[in-house]
Amino acid sequence: MTGVAIYRIYFHPLSKYPGPKLAAATRLWWLRQQLSGRFPFVVHELHLQYGDIVRIAPTELSFTGADAWKEIYGFRNGLPENRKDPGENTDADKAHPTIINADRKTHGDLRKLLSNAFSDKVLRGQEPVLLHYIDLLIQRLQEVADKREPVDIVRWFNYVTFDIIGHLAFYEPFDCLQNTEYHPWMSMIFNAIVYVHYIRSLQRFIDIRSIILALMPARIVKRRAWHIGLVEEKVKRRQQRHPDYIDFMSHLLQAEEKGHLTLPDLVANANLMVIAGSETTATILSGTVYYLCTHPRVMSKLVEEVRTAFQASHEINISRISQLKYINAVLDESFRLYPPAAGSHPRITPPEGARILGQWLPGNTSMGMAQYAVFRSPANFKDPDRYLPERWLDTDGPYANDRREALQPFSFGPRNCIGRNLANIEMRLILAKILWHFDIELMPECRHWPQEQYIYTSWEKIPLKVRITSR
Ligand code: HEM
Repeated sequence: MTGVAIYRIYFHPLSKYPGPKLAAATRLWWLRQQLSGRFPFVVHELHLQYGDIVRIAPTELSFTGADAWKEIYGFRNGLPENRKDPGENTDADKAHPTIINADRKTHGDLRKLLSNAFSDKVLRGQEPVLLHYIDLLIQRLQEVADKREPVDIVRWFNYVTFDIIGHLAFYEPFDCLQNTEYHPWMSMIFNAIVYVHYIRSLQRFIDIRSIILALMPARIVKRRAWHIGLVEEKVKRRQQRHPDYIDFMSHLLQAEEKGHLTLPDLVANANLMVIAGSETTATILSGTVYYLCTHPRVMSKLVEEVRTAFQASHEINISRISQLKYINAVLDESFRLYPPAAGSHPRITPPEGARILGQWLPGNTSMGMAQYAVFRSPANFKDPDRYLPERWLDTDGPYANDRREALQPFSFGPRNCIGRNLANIEMRLILAKILWHFDIELMPECRHWPQEQYIYTSWEKIPLKVRITSR
């Protein structure tokens, strides 16, 4: 053991990269940090101490340089992209992979099918679904505003994003806004987030999934079966329906009819879409409301933009919202300080090794860009901890040298976020409609909201209490 540790620290090909000695000696250090829920913050501190490449495990490097996005996640001069680190794959059934974990060939096939549901043109066909739920959100918030009691805005963003994504996946409502409560599916997702993070971290050491499955109480096994059964039922009902717009399932179902996909493939991917598309958008909206409330100057500027651009709420739609400028800067700045996918999504070098940023890395080296650290790196952004949307607009001013291309909250390259366009439109519409209708004020107990959270793959969001007043 000691011999291995000494070799790794002093003689391993990665020994020239700085970082904690314990991290170089054993992956147990990495495991402990992952399980603490504070790893993205720790990685950020390490980068401040050691620079833009840090060794965070015997065979893993973390990067913050803006150019590394292209080299780690992009096409490699005609060569295939660097493979996803298999240690991150938590698909329940590897025979029916989700797009996010699929191998290169299956990924390419699924991505081709699914990308049909995310073009600008298709998005315009989906607009009535978005506006229906956003208007329902406003109507329900109006009732809350009348009561003058503080609300947890995180819940409301979860309701609306889950209703929208659920509808675009299955062409039927989840009724979160209608019932003002989490659908059981949602509660299950929130419970599963920490569990999946633990599996992801521990499975590098032992086949933890088999152990957990063997030890899992019957109640939980049943609940899981219920969940898969629910998705399967929804997929089957969707097969019988014919929306007059293209949704997430349209092309997947056609592929199933032709025998290219199976029902379990549809279930796995529909499930993934709902998880990937709802919680992430709710997170950035929550973070944005927090930063707006704590930065009154930015809030008033954005409110003015929204309220002067639109004379009536119904004027807020996809084509009009795309013309606003400040709202984009506000959201970019929120992504920078509160990225929904705050950790890294590591890739590995091919067996023969690869050159990254001019440095030769041996085969199977894990490498990633931890978003929290990249977006707060002083090498990428001047005054990195300040919330300053103007940095995205005033490209000749004091922030002219910011490395804007470092901000990639949807990741980069052929496996970047397929739902990026939808998310961009959805969050703008929601934010604009809310600010058009309400004044928002943060409750003092939430002044330190982001700092009090843990990150288990995604932020474990605590309630964000605000008082909303109809204007
Ligand atoms: C603010 C909102 C969102 C953020 C920050 C976000 C972020 C990301 C990131 C970082 C990845 C890459 C993950 C990896 O490399 O393992 C990703 C992939 C993905 N996202 Fe999003 N996402 C958002 C919204 C959405 C929406 C609305 C959908 C649509 C339903 C969606 C569906 C997906 C899918 C299917 C993938 C896998 C793509 C592939 O592997 O080709 N996301 N997202």
